Amino acid sequence: MLADSDAKRYCPGKPAGAVEDNTVTTEPYSRARKVLHWLFAAVILWTLFTGFYAALAPVRPEFKDWVGWVNVSLTTLLIPLFAWRCVLAWRQPKARDAAANTFMTRLAGWVHVTLYLTMGVVLVTGVLMMRRPIAVFDWFTLPRPIGNPLITGFFHTVHIASCVVLAALVALHIAAVIKHCLRGTPVLGRML
Ligand code: HEM
Ligand code: HEM
Repeated sequence: MLADSDAKRYCPGKPAGAVEDNTVTTEPYSRARKVLHWLFAAVILWTLFTGFYAALAPVRPEFKDWVGWVNVSLTTLLIPLFAWRCVLAWRQPKARDAAANTFMTRLAGWVHVTLYLTMGVVLVTGVLMMRRPIAVFDWFTLPRPIGNPLITGFFHTVHIASCVVLAALVALHIAAVIKHCLRGTPVLGRML
């Protein structure tokens, strides 16, 4: 029987921080990918919770306006960072997994790709649905890209629908991470 220190040890010949246990070999994500992941996670969870709350709960109009102002500002700032995140994900191979061909590992990979696609759709449709100039924290203002209300109405519908899909994918993603943690699979470690 292996001692715990043998069963879960740093891997010789692997990048610093690589961890191995009996079932999974993992390489951590780069520092930039970790920082971007947690920044996006915080902003997206905040925006989903407050956005849906302000839309569905009986809140004061001033609160709704404040949520809209904060969320439009925060998520507009995410757009250039999202482009950077896509480049990093494209250039740096996925954190490696010894059980790389299992169904669950491939499913997790597809969920990550779908998360990227859905984040992209939500960000782009958010901008394209704007019927007023895009004010970012009173720092600067961008013009609304489209004037035709029929077209902005279409992007508004796609924005709400893609937000629902994003919320479902995020719930699935977090449930999968919790399940791995409960089973002792070190997926969280490579994102910390
Ligand atoms: C990942 C980024 C984003 C997330 C998670 C997000 C999420 C949400 C959510 C949950 C709502 C409420 C949905 C509802 O009315 O039922 C909403 C509405 C809205 N979003 Fe986004 N959004 C994002 C990006 C953006 C961007 C980049 C813009 C514009 C620059 C934007 C502009 C708006 C506006 C104006 C509304 C209010 C729509 C209304 O009053 O009916 N969003 N968003
Ligand atoms: C408390 C919330 C969250 C936790 C604990 C968490 C945890 C993790 C962990 C452990 C990984 C690595 C999984 C692996 O390599 O197999 C990961 C990857 C990932 N997560 Fe999350 N996550 C959270 C929220 C989010 C949110 C809100 C999003 C986006 C909407 C997101 C998007 C991603 C993506 C796209 C990846 C793939 C790696 C990358 O390119 O960054 N996560 N997450």
